[in-house]
Amino acid sequence: MSGDWREAATIGELYEAIKDCRRCSLGQTRNNLVLGTGDEHADIMFVGEAPGFHEDRQGIPFVGPAGQFLDQLLASIGLRRSQVYIANTLKCRPPDNRDPSPEELETCTPYLFKQIEIIAPRIICTLGNHATKTLLKTSTGITQLHGKLLHRDGLAYVPLFHPAAALHKPPLKSVLIEDFQRLREHLEAERARWRREGEPEPEPALESPAESDEPEQMGLF
Ligand code: URA
Repeated sequence: MSGDWREAATIGELYEAIKDCRRCSLGQTRNNLVLGTGDEHADIMFVGEAPGFHEDRQGIPFVGPAGQFLDQLLASIGLRRSQVYIANTLKCRPPDNRDPSPEELETCTPYLFKQIEIIAPRIICTLGNHATKTLLKTSTGITQLHGKLLHRDGLAYVPLFHPAAALHKPPLKSVLIEDFQRLREHLEAERARWRREGEPEPEPALESPAESDEPEQMGLF
């Protein structure tokens, strides 16, 4: 690593400091460390589980089928990925896409917390059980928490099912599509609260979904 990652003030500095990380065995098998993508000053951050095959190849999170679905879900509430920030709990791909181990999570999540400190989002959407349990420090599963707006330590959280899980289990897909509409309502409620508290209106403003982004089109998946 070049420089102390704890001192990083920008995402670029953090990436430079950790891109050759070997703190766990995933450093031996990955092709690319996958830090994050999107607006480094975003108010809304999405946190998934870990890079998969495509992400490991490209060094960018959520670029495979789950990522394409996430893009459609974002579009359904008038957002593009360039307007939010997207990261994962683990920065390196576990072989065969197995679940992250507790040791890997413990080793890697300080990087995620540093990322959150730099980006300073107002709302974090946790995608799936690993991100939800890690960030909300809860043992309650995503099945209980999905779609709810929760406040912890000055931050708002909305746990959501993981897009990959929704692609594999069709009943979850419609739940996730509906939860994104609830997310839109939560965002509007939070923005009204920020305005009441006299804070500047954060960007990006929600746009009306483009016609091609209507949720009905997600039936293609
Ligand atoms: N699944 C994740 O959790 N993260 C990715 O980046 C891709 C798939």
